[in-house]
Amino acid sequence: MNKQIILLPGDGVGTEIMESAKLVLNAVASEFGHSFALHQHAIGGDAIDQYGTPLPNETIKACQQADAILLGAVGGPKWDSLPANLRPEKGLLGIRKSLGLFANLRPVKGFTSLLHASPLKESVIKGSDILIIRELTGGLYFGKPSERRENGNAVVDTLYYQRSEMERIIDKAFQSAQIRRKHLTSVDKANVLESSRMWREIVNEKSKDYPDVTVEHLLVDAAAMKLVTQPNQFDVMVTENLFGDILSDEASVLTGSLGMLPSASIRSDGVGLYEPVHGSAPDIAGLGIANPLGMILSVAMMLRHTFHLEEEATEIEQAVHETLRQGYYTPDLHIKGGKQVSTKEMTAIVVENMTTKS
Ligand code: NAI
Ligand code: MG
Repeated sequence: MNKQIILLPGDGVGTEIMESAKLVLNAVASEFGHSFALHQHAIGGDAIDQYGTPLPNETIKACQQADAILLGAVGGPKWDSLPANLRPEKGLLGIRKSLGLFANLRPVKGFTSLLHASPLKESVIKGSDILIIRELTGGLYFGKPSERRENGNAVVDTLYYQRSEMERIIDKAFQSAQIRRKHLTSVDKANVLESSRMWREIVNEKSKDYPDVTVEHLLVDAAAMKLVTQPNQFDVMVTENLFGDILSDEASVLTGSLGMLPSASIRSDGVGLYEPVHGSAPDIAGLGIANPLGMILSVAMMLRHTFHLEEEATEIEQAVHETLRQGYYTPDLHIKGGKQVSTKEMTAIVVENMTTKS
């Protein structure tokens, strides 16, 4: 398999964990005989410093021709005083939008070795393994009008969706459930919102096309509660943009550290952008202690979702589990009786665990 992958390290710890991603990709390539062509480009503050804009045309062009994109993180105090449209974060929103990446996938798993690291009780998180699918390009974040009215004494935001936008994300969710535990929770606010009533209708229509998947509807307020009381009752959860933004952040407390969480933003033809959920972590940037596991698990997601390399993806995930089981952790985590290591050491151990299978 010969694939073009664009690397966008970005800022802060983004550049450090991108090195981890490269090592893992090289290990997969040599073990399985693939050839990954890796091309590095600038985004965010790094691009502002080099080109005066957070998203240079050259980067957009390269991404449009790529099979997949891996991103570190963008932003940092150095660029905080710039006007909103010139800030590093604009680069990220811009690339998602210009590539039409409408489905945001965030797997959240309670790692056995890290159950104690979550503020929630171990008995509550044990066994949880959730895939949250958030619609990324519609809803309240993009609807027009969105403006102040009546001399600033009133305000309007618009929740707008086309049927086709709901259908494609709901299809993606059913398909994801089919290759997991075949249970889909659709989250809405159908007791109040017309958009949610249409969403629910579509889920019910679509469920006829996926008879092997069990569907459950939950109101968003009930879903928020259940996520922290019975998280192990979920398999795939699908919801619109705003609800998904909130619920996916809430679910991240299950894993104990932001540094553990991968994500994917994809479209129907399989092209996707893969990145850890966390930001550029300016407080620890340059110290060589960032947790690379969210990034490494994002590489696994890329191999699975864009390249359909299930065996390779599983091998990476198992190596991450094994590394934690052996007690290795970066300072954002703590494993009792374990050993604290650097970003580079952690990466080397994961790579070693990939090739020396038990
Ligand atoms: P952050 O996620 O960068 O950091 C929050 C806390 O988590 C910090 O204490 C940090 O040290 C820790 N942390 C994050 N990733 C870690 C890792 N891999 N290993 C160990 N510890 C880790 O969020 P924050 O501080 O709110 O934002 C910092 C900058 O990042 C801002 O400029 C923000 O706009 C940007 N940002 C970028 C994102 C992206 O590129 N996707 C997402 C979120 C924030
Ligand atoms: Mg958020």
